[in-house]
Amino acid sequence: MSPFTVAFADIAPRERYKLLCASVTPRPIALVTTRSVEGVVNAAPFSFFNVFSEDPALIVLGLQHRPGNDPKDTTRNIAAAGEFVVNLVDEALAEAMNICAIDFPPDVSEIEAAGLSLLPGVSIQVPRIAEAPFALECRKTVSMAFSPTRELLIGEVIRIHAREGLVDPATLRVSMSDYKPVGRMFGDGYSRQNDRFDLKRGSYADWLAQRDG
Ligand SMILES: Cc1cc2nc3c(=O)[nH]c(=O)nc-3n(C[C@H](O)[C@H](O)[C@H](O)COP(=O)(O)O)c2cc1C
Repeated sequence: MSPFTVAFADIAPRERYKLLCASVTPRPIALVTTRSVEGVVNAAPFSFFNVFSEDPALIVLGLQHRPGNDPKDTTRNIAAAGEFVVNLVDEALAEAMNICAIDFPPDVSEIEAAGLSLLPGVSIQVPRIAEAPFALECRKTVSMAFSPTRELLIGEVIRIHAREGLVDPATLRVSMSDYKPVGRMFGDGYSRQNDRFDLKRGSYADWLAQRDG
């Protein structure tokens, strides 16, 4: 295949989605729990997700509306309650996460359908998924609508929970051999992170010393 380039103004949003999602990959997956005003706990995965900063501790989510500009349950619940939990997804949680992506009606809890269990929130009212390796209790900071169907949500992380054995409380180091996060590739594709490598980050002086031998 020859080199490829295209201006995004010349292609349809669906084609941009294909190129963006297959090139910016793997993406972490936030399995977001929220609670409706009626008290139903909702869970849905989002891979337009990342951590943005630590002071303040912010995460971002890209929320797309359903056809007909109908906000998803997650979007509606966060708008109403201002709170949510980002549950991180590991290999053991991947299949349940995929069940949570089914378009259940608002009165059906994905948690039960996926065979998951909940633990109560500590700093917020929204519960977290007991099976998640990490859970971030978040409060909505701001949401921005970029089109009638697309919202960027920024949330502040108030508290982190980790499954037993994942974080050393003395050093706050995460055990990378025990944490097996899953990444979203494209479409139905996912990746495991079992081929890691280190690159030591050097100073300019190190770089000069190496160059000049
Ligand atoms: C791995 C994965 C990642 C997803 N990422 C997003 C995303 O970033 N934004 C989005 O709007 N929907 C995303 N979805 C689709 C939602 O999870 C799906 O529409 C879900 O049914 C919404 O549920 P809710 O209405 O209960 O909030 C993703 C689905 C999967 C399986």
